[in-house]
Parts: sequence; C-alpha cells; structure tokens
Amino acid sequence: MMATSGSNATFDLSPKSLVGVGVGLVAVGGASYLLFRHLTRDVMPQKWRRVGTVQRIHFFPVKSCAPLEISKPGVEYDCDVLSMSFEGIRERTLMVVNDKNEMITARVYPKMTQIHSKKVSPNKLLFSAQDLPDLELDFENLEGPEKHVHTVVWGVPVDVMLCGDRINKWFSQAIRNQDSGLKLVYYPYPKPVKAANSDFKGMPFMRQEDTGTFTDATSFMLMNLSSVADLNTRLKHPVDAQQFRGNFELKMDVDEPYAEDHWQWLRIGDDAVFRSVAPCTRCILPNIDVNTAERDSDGEPLKTLKTYRMFKYSAPALGIHLGLRLPGKVKANDVVYVGYK
Ligand SMILES: *[C@@H]1O[C@H](CO)[C@@H](O)[C@H](O)[C@H]1NC(C)=O
Repeated sequence: MMATSGSNATFDLSPKSLVGVGVGLVAVGGASYLLFRHLTRDVMPQKWRRVGTVQRIHFFPVKSCAPLEISKPGVEYDCDVLSMSFEGIRERTLMVVNDKNEMITARVYPKMTQIHSKKVSPNKLLFSAQDLPDLELDFENLEGPEKHVHTVVWGVPVDVMLCGDRINKWFSQAIRNQDSGLKLVYYPYPKPVKAANSDFKGMPFMRQEDTGTFTDATSFMLMNLSSVADLNTRLKHPVDAQQFRGNFELKMDVDEPYAEDHWQWLRIGDDAVFRSVAPCTRCILPNIDVNTAERDSDGEPLKTLKTYRMFKYSAPALGIHLGLRLPGKVKANDVVYVGYK
C-alpha cells in the first residue's frame, strides 16, 4: 500500500495530490466569488443630495383598512427592519382572513378601506366603522385560542394568531354585514419571518428581511406626489395619492424626469436609510375611492397607468418598494436625500 503513493508520476491519485487539486479548485472558486461580490457589491453611499420632503406619512395597522389616525401633528414614527410603528402600534400586523384562513383584501371587499383605527395604548387599538359601536382590541391579550393558524400572503406562508370571536364578529359585520365568516389574525413575531415573494426573485437588492409583516412585497413603500399629479392630468376624475397606500409621500423640490430609474439609496430625516429594491406594480386596489369605497366604473386609474407605466412588467408600476438599511425616526416634512457616489 505504501509503495503506490507517489510512485506513478504521470497519474498520481495519492490523497496528497487530491488535496492539492481540491485547494486549487477552492482557490479559483473563492477568487471568482470575491470577484462576483466585488462586481455586485452594494455599498451604502457616504454623500447625500436633498431632493425634496416627505409630505405625508401613513401606515395601516390592518392590511387593506384605513391608515392609523393620529390627531397630534408632527409626531415621529419609528422605522426598523420589521416595519414602521408609532408608539408601539405597528404597520400591517393585522389582517382579515376567511373561514379557510385565506387572506381577504379590499380588492374583493372595498368596504375594508372604511374601517378606521386609533391608538388607545401601545398595545390597544380602537376600531370604528359605519353603523357599528367602536371595538377595542388588546393584542397583548388576544381572545383567540393560543395556537397558531396557517395562512398565506400572496403565495408566501406565515403562521399567525387568532384575535377571538368578539373581534371576528365585528369585522364580519363591518365588511360583510354578517355575524361570522371573517376572522382577524395577528402577526406575533418581533422580526420578519416570511420568505421573499418569488415574484421578486430577479431583484438583486431585495433581502429576506425586507418582507415585513403582512405587506405584499416589502416593509416600506414610497409614492412620488409629482407622479400622482402627472397621472391626474391624464384622468377625468383625479385620484388621491392615498389610494396607492404608500408609507411616504414625497414632494420633490424640482421634478427630475425618470429619477426613479436611478435612485438606489434614500435617506429620510437624519438617520433612516433605505434601499430601493423593486418597483411597485399595481393591482386594482387603487381603483377604490378612499373616501367612498366605490370602485371606479371605468377601471381608473389602472387603465390609464397601463398606457404609460408598463415598462417590462406584467402590471403598471408606480411607487417604489424600499428595504430598510439603517433604522431611524421619521416625521412629516423631513428632508429626503438621494445617495450618490
Ligand atoms: C416623480 O415624478 C416626476 C413626474 O412624473 C418624475 O419626473 C420624477 O422622475 C419622479 N421622481 C421619482 C424619484 O420617482
């Protein structure tokens, strides 16, 4: 056995030479990996240029329902990797499901957009809807059974908690005028747990942790008010920017045509830094009037958006999905900066 080792100079398969080949492959592999990392690296910029201000900030405690109502002006919102929050109340940690635990949205039940909520305490919300007494929900003391149920948000599975029959009855009445049939579920995790939606596979800067709570795509979405203003010049009946359900409404100092194609990094206020990770492609939800819950009979604004915002996507794009890269506080009128190198 000892004699074979190293005895054949032309075809040496000794363990030592195999290790040598292995090291060589690892070295080549490692070098190309480093080259790949170098070419695709995504470094946060050091320089920032002012482009405008945030006109309005919104978030939506219940997916598809109205934004959180805050009566005090000038409040600060916290942005962390999971979502935006205000004094303990978080973005889209609640969602309505049917008897089979399937997601229900305002696309099918436009009345959902008329369910309002206010903060009572850091763990209590007060809901209101037409013709119903207000309803208080304490999400530290949920009244549902203490076990997870399984649901799915646009193809991505997630286990959630039930809020209880008293809450379910109120939501069934508010949305369907029935005593049962719908349930409210709660996202109980302190961090993002969903997988990334496979629709965004081709988006290189999207990370798993950008998936947020019950959001469709990522934790944060920015709408450009100049784009909404431009859209409105093309429509018979102008739409409210809120119909696009963004978190940040950007008022640009000066319009820069097609700036959205080039913006990669954004800072809002002093600290919060975001990466633009995907365009926001649009479904029929923006066709629902935020004030009346009526669906537009001409299919607007989606129909018009399709005429000039399709690019290479399967649906028209308006607004950008953001992933958080540095946490921070934001408030209305904060300056918005774009990073450059
Ligand atoms: C905002 O909208 C205006 C008008 O459509 C456009 O020129 C500009 O590029 C947009 N900016 C961003 C950052 O999306």
